[in-house]
Amino acid sequence: MFFLNALLAVLTGVWGLCLASGLADGSAPTPKPALPAALSDQPGDIERGRRIVLDRERGDCVVCHAMPLPGRQFHGSLGLPLDGIGSRSGAAELRRRLVNPKAFDPHTIMPAYHSTQGLHRVLGSYRGRPILSAQEIEDVVAYLLSLRADGPAELPVSRPHRVDPERTETGSPTVVDGRRSGYVYLSEENRRLQDDAFGNPGLLWVERGSALWAQPHGLSHTSCASCHADPAVSMRGTRTRYPRFDTRRKGLINLEQQINRCREERLGAAAYAYESDDLLALSALVGFQSRGLPLQVDIEGPAQAFFEAGRAFFERRRGQLDMACAQCHDGYAGQRLRGDILSQGQINGFPIYRHAWQSLGSSHRMFAWCNTAIRAEPFAYGADEYVNLELYLAWRGRGLGVETPAVRR
Ligand code: HEC
Ligand code: HEC
Ligand code: HEC
Repeated sequence: MFFLNALLAVLTGVWGLCLASGLADGSAPTPKPALPAALSDQPGDIERGRRIVLDRERGDCVVCHAMPLPGRQFHGSLGLPLDGIGSRSGAAELRRRLVNPKAFDPHTIMPAYHSTQGLHRVLGSYRGRPILSAQEIEDVVAYLLSLRADGPAELPVSRPHRVDPERTETGSPTVVDGRRSGYVYLSEENRRLQDDAFGNPGLLWVERGSALWAQPHGLSHTSCASCHADPAVSMRGTRTRYPRFDTRRKGLINLEQQINRCREERLGAAAYAYESDDLLALSALVGFQSRGLPLQVDIEGPAQAFFEAGRAFFERRRGQLDMACAQCHDGYAGQRLRGDILSQGQINGFPIYRHAWQSLGSSHRMFAWCNTAIRAEPFAYGADEYVNLELYLAWRGRGLGVETPAVRR
């Protein structure tokens, strides 16, 4: 939280309101901007507002707030429940918060729904337009005002997830000085699946990796095994040290890139595509040999500048929703984001088997998924930006045991 607060204070500063209607002037950073009057000529419509707060493409307020609406057990817990909000707040205040919640708290994770100012790397189709139109803001305000304290009795709210520090069944470090593996946030069922020496679906890739390891490839007609023999011996501990600084590249190299370097330079074979089953199989095989060993990347000397770039990436707000990785994974770990429990975003389990993907996936696939979820332009798999991020995250999770292949929701 220390870095987050310090950085966000600089990044966000004070956000002025700059509405097309000229209701407020964005040039002067005022602590209490003037209350905007209605943003559109047409009065807000409660029923339309109700649909907007549930609509994933528009308001999607229930991703963070419980509301007296269907599916409440899947409503998020990042913000407080909005039951009775119409009795606690007036139209002007609600409108102002929706347009620019950073006027209330510059560090807030709540997106600004009617502003495009200062956004970074917004995903193509969302670029240049606010999340909600002026009329949609008015509709949501009308809906919120209709939520009265004397309305229907409040439904129960989904409780934030309680993390049980005793969950260390893997036999490897899952909690180290407050750093928590994603394993800690898993359901009982998924933890069992990950620990199952036969049932863990990620082990199919490990098996496939073993076959590839022994198979002759390329012009050299040699195999990985010709040089590295038994991976259980030669690759033990490897995963804990990657990404690392590489003197030939004068930059970082991650495990996938090292495997491809051996393929090209030692086997005379073509590099595997990032995220191909073959590359995932070999990185899972190599990672598997370090199961239980603590992450311990080197961030000193020439690696330091890359590490700092990774940290800056993690803390930068981006996308139409204007969120930083750190906001979700430092600030709100353990809270419910719609149906998902937010973890600390650790990478000790990668490549992971993710039910949502029905497949194994690399950390870069996860980074791209998280970027896209906040409507930010993702980077290509293997991009330097993601390798830097990987180094920062490996350090951030230092000491956590390797769980490759972990099972996640
Ligand atoms: C990413 C999570 C997130 C989303 C999405 C979000 N909010 Fe919030 N909201 C928060 C948080 C956290 C707060 C607590 C104050 C703060 O941090 O700004 C908050 C505060 C509020 C408040 C003040 C609550 C009070 O009791 O005074 C209102 C009203 C509100 N949000 C309405 C909405 C509406 C309406 C939407 C959808 C259009 C929405 N929020 C979307 C996170 C979110
Ligand atoms: C809006 C909130 C949000 C933001 C912002 C976000 N993520 Fe995530 N992230 C999630 C959710 C939800 C999941 C799946 C549940 C979980 O493990 O937290 C997830 C999962 C992850 C995981 C997998 C953790 C594991 O144990 O397997 C990693 C790693 C991760 N995120 C990294 C990042 C990075 C890096 C960024 C910034 C580029 C980022 N996230 C931004 C919501 C977010
Ligand atoms: C001709 C010998 C040779 C072959 C064949 C070979 N490698 Fe390598 N490998 C090396 C050498 C030498 C290194 C040391 C780093 C370097 O020079 O790239 C290395 C390093 C590695 C590392 C990093 C180990 C560590 O602890 O840092 C991995 C992972 C790896 N190889 C995987 C593979 C895989 C997978 C294959 C088969 C696709 C393979 N290698 C084939 C010679 C080989």
